[in-house]
Amino acid sequence: MQDNKVQIFDTTLRDGEQVPGCKLDTNQKLVIAERLDLLGVNVIEAGFPVSSPGDFTSVSEIAKIVKNATVCGLTRAVENDIKVAAEALKFANHPRIHTGIGTSDSHIQFKFNSTREKVIERAIKAVSYAKSFVEDVEFYAEDAGRTDNEFLARVCEEVIKAGATVLNIPDTTGYCLPEEYGAKMKYLRENVKGIENVTLSCHCHNDLGLATANSISGVINGARQIECTINGIGERAGNTALEEVVMVLKQHPYLNLETSINTKLLYDTSIMVRESMGMPVQPNKAIVGANAFAHSSGIHQDGVIKNRETYEIMDPEDVGVTESAIVLTARSGRAALAYRAKKIGYELTKVQLDTAYTSFLETADKQKEVKDDDIHSIMKEVNKISKIAMA
Ligand code: KIV
Ligand code: ZN
Repeated sequence: MQDNKVQIFDTTLRDGEQVPGCKLDTNQKLVIAERLDLLGVNVIEAGFPVSSPGDFTSVSEIAKIVKNATVCGLTRAVENDIKVAAEALKFANHPRIHTGIGTSDSHIQFKFNSTREKVIERAIKAVSYAKSFVEDVEFYAEDAGRTDNEFLARVCEEVIKAGATVLNIPDTTGYCLPEEYGAKMKYLRENVKGIENVTLSCHCHNDLGLATANSISGVINGARQIECTINGIGERAGNTALEEVVMVLKQHPYLNLETSINTKLLYDTSIMVRESMGMPVQPNKAIVGANAFAHSSGIHQDGVIKNRETYEIMDPEDVGVTESAIVLTARSGRAALAYRAKKIGYELTKVQLDTAYTSFLETADKQKEVKDDDIHSIMKEVNKISKIAMA
C-alpha cells in the first residue's frame, strides 16, 4: 500500500526564478527560503549552483539557514555541475542533488546529437557520481512527457540501480493530457524493477493550462512528490502552482492524499513572492488572486450573505485570506448594499434601503465599483430625506 503523504518540492527559487524579470539577490532568496520552510514544504530547490557564482552563493547560504526542509541543487548530467552542487550543499541538514538529462527522441537527436544508449550511460554515470557526495539523489528525465514509456522505464530502472532515490518525470513542455500523464506514472509503477523503493515525482509545466490537473493525475496514479512554485511562476506559462495542488488535495479528502503545508500561510507567501519578484498575479488566479474570494453579481452576493458555502468551496481563512469580499457594483442587489452598510455602521429600515438603493444604482452606473466612502455620502442623503419626511 502506498503512503498517503505527498511531498511538496518547491522550485520557486530555481524554475521560478529563471523567468526574465524574476531575478532575486541572495538576501531576497534567503527570506523566501525561510518562509518556504515555515510554510512546511518538504524540499526547497534553491538554485542551479554551477550556473553563476551568485547562484552558488545563494544555494550555499540557503543550505546553512534552512532548518527542516531538504535543500536541493540542480545539475546537468555533467561531472563538474555535480561537484559544484555538492560543494554548495555541504552545510545543508538534508542535502539533495537533482541531476538528469533529456530522454525524449527530440532532445536526444537535436540537443545532444546522441543515441538512447549513450543517454542511459550518461544518466547512470551522473547518478553514481552524485551518490558519491550525498545519499539523496533525484534524477530528472527531461521531456519525459514526450518520451516513449518503454524507453523511459529502462532509464528509470538503470538510475534506480545506480542509486537514485527520487525519479522526476517532467512534462517539460506542458504537452500531456491529465489521463496520459497519470497513465505514464502507472506504467512506470508497473514496469520498473525497484520502483517501490523510490519516490516518483511530478514536474509539470502549464503551456496548455494543465499543470495542476496533470500533477493531481500523477499523484492519483502513484507519484508521491509534486514539484511546484508559489503563484505558478516558471518557464514560459509557468509551473504547477503550489497553492493549487495543496488546496485540491485538502478540499478532496476522499483522495486520501495529504501534504504538510500550513495552508493559512499561502496568501501571505504569495504576496511575498509577487512583491519581491515584481511579478503580479492575475486577479482571477485560483486561491491567491484578488478576486478568488470576491463576489460581484447580485445573485451570488445574496447567496453568500445567507450562507458562504452557496458559492465558496473553501473557507478563505484556510488560505490566510481574512474574509470573502462583497464587491458593490451595478449588478449588486439590496441584500449586498444592506450588508455593506451594516458593516460600516448603518442599520437600514426597509424604506431607507429602498431610497439608498436608488442612489446606489445611480452611483454604480457611473463608477465601476461603489466604495465605502460612496455609501457614507449616500447615507447622508438618505438621512436628510428621512428627517424631512418625519418633520
Ligand atoms: O521542466 C523540466 O524538465 C525541468 C528539469 C530541469 C527538472 O525543470
Ligand atoms: Zn521545469
